[in-house]
Amino acid sequence: MTAPILVTGGAGFIGSHLVERLIDAGYEVDVVDNLSAGSLANLRVARGKGDRGLHFHKLDIVDGDLLALMTRRKPLAVIHLAAKVNVRESMIDPLGDLSANVVGSLRVLEAARHSGVAKVIFATSAGVYGAVPSSELPIREDVAHLPDSFYGLSKDVVLDYLRLYRNNFDLEYTALVLANVYGPRQGLLGEGGVVAKFAQAIAAGEQATIIGDGSQTRDLVYVEDVVDAFYRSLDQGGGLVLNIATGVETSIDTLHKEMYRISGCDYRQPNHKEAITGEILRSSLDARRAGWYLRWHASTTLERGLEQVLQWYGAMRSGTVAR
Ligand SMILES: NC(=O)c1ccc[n+]([C@@H]2O[C@H](COP(=O)([O-])OP(=O)(O)OC[C@H]3O[C@@H](n4cnc5c(N)ncnc54)[C@H](O)[C@@H]3O)[C@@H](O)[C@H]2O)c1
Repeated sequence: MTAPILVTGGAGFIGSHLVERLIDAGYEVDVVDNLSAGSLANLRVARGKGDRGLHFHKLDIVDGDLLALMTRRKPLAVIHLAAKVNVRESMIDPLGDLSANVVGSLRVLEAARHSGVAKVIFATSAGVYGAVPSSELPIREDVAHLPDSFYGLSKDVVLDYLRLYRNNFDLEYTALVLANVYGPRQGLLGEGGVVAKFAQAIAAGEQATIIGDGSQTRDLVYVEDVVDAFYRSLDQGGGLVLNIATGVETSIDTLHKEMYRISGCDYRQPNHKEAITGEILRSSLDARRAGWYLRWHASTTLERGLEQVLQWYGAMRSGTVAR
């Protein structure tokens, strides 16, 4: 049996899909999660693949004994997803954001370094770039990083720690800059939460709310494609920051209409709420570097991905799907 992979935040939205993929590939997986946003229900499908592959540790990355765990389990690599993921919350509570996203990450790196882990793969966000002029879209990794939220800042600071740990302690890393990820099991608060919100409204036969006029764009990348990028990073992309995205801008208004079309439900006009000051108006990331170094590209069409989400929400209401 090969050494396990340790996934922090493995009971969350992206983490739970990743855990399934790793188990399918024959790895044992250690999940570290404090269940502040994730849940054991998210790991039900992974558990169904056989109990021997999955080890769950209810542990907080800020104050849990990660070193003891990593020393005992000797993971081959650590995939670090645990974070506070709410941008708006980071503006209300910058210290809470710093604690989970910077101090927590540093504790993961320290434990990895002292227990002899070879590689850490980190989930970071397009928030590290801040608002970029439209002329620079899709954003490349070498653009100036000017985060405009504390969440973006904390996700950016960790990139420098990763570089220093690699240079000074030979701890390899790959950092994946995720665009707006969507898919089954997504919470409503995260970065790509708009798809989940629309799906939930459609399934409930309720009117969806669009903040602003709906012309703002997002780069929507399907969770299984994102999981594939993490998987490929286990043995590729060392020392690199790589965008994981489609490079395609989809307006929120188009997304809303598309989701109705795909669902086959009668269209309901959205309710519009006042735009949020400082909200990024256009967003898309250039993922060619991930193509070169991971041989990765987003292979799920928006239509196919939305179909999966709508099915999951629709079926969830009738209680027929395994969460
Ligand atoms: N979803 C997106 O669109 C998106 C985009 C860019 C980056 N990311 C990043 O991807 C990662 C996963 O995001 P997600 O959307 O799956 O969010 P999520 O909230 O579903 O998952 C995060 C998990 O981390 C756990 N967690 C939070 N704080 C913790 C702590 N102190 N100790 C231990 N566990 C803790 C939560 O319980 C949760 O299970 C995050 O790092 C996020 O910043 C997500």
